[in-house]
Amino acid sequence: MNALELLKEQHEEVSKLFKKFERLGDGSITERRELFIMIADRLSAHATIEEQYFYPSIKTDKSEDLLLEAAEEHLAVKRLIADLLDLEPTDETFDAKMKVLMENVEHHVEEEEDKLFKMVRKTLNEDQLLALGIQMKAEFDELMEAEPRNEVPMQTDTAAPI
Ligand SMILES: [Fe+2]
Repeated sequence: MNALELLKEQHEEVSKLFKKFERLGDGSITERRELFIMIADRLSAHATIEEQYFYPSIKTDKSEDLLLEAAEEHLAVKRLIADLLDLEPTDETFDAKMKVLMENVEHHVEEEEDKLFKMVRKTLNEDQLLALGIQMKAEFDELMEAEPRNEVPMQTDTAAPI
């Protein structure tokens, strides 16, 4: 799987989890907490592989502004995740923060897939995209073994460097 296919697949997986969360409504607190944790772990590992591997590999004069914006969007997402990690699903602000998290992620995904991915196809060839995809998938799987959401509260001061 090349890097763009991998990231798209991860975007879709998180979007499905958000939809599942919305369908639960006020349902089981345990289920809502579990879904949040699944979302938080995936978003955290996803942001890390983008910041450490994807963004540095695709940085050009043309893409730099978009990448800076993407890193700021990651920061906003991480701050929401850090807030949510401190809340019980019964807290009155939990659903509101989940909703804002979902909207932020949707916007960020749209920008990446519509603008950034198009630029990337002009910067990297298929072999490079494939090698990057393999590297990012391995790193993602490794991060997912150790509850990556727990790293998020340490990453909320400033955006990752581009
Ligand atoms: Fe991203």
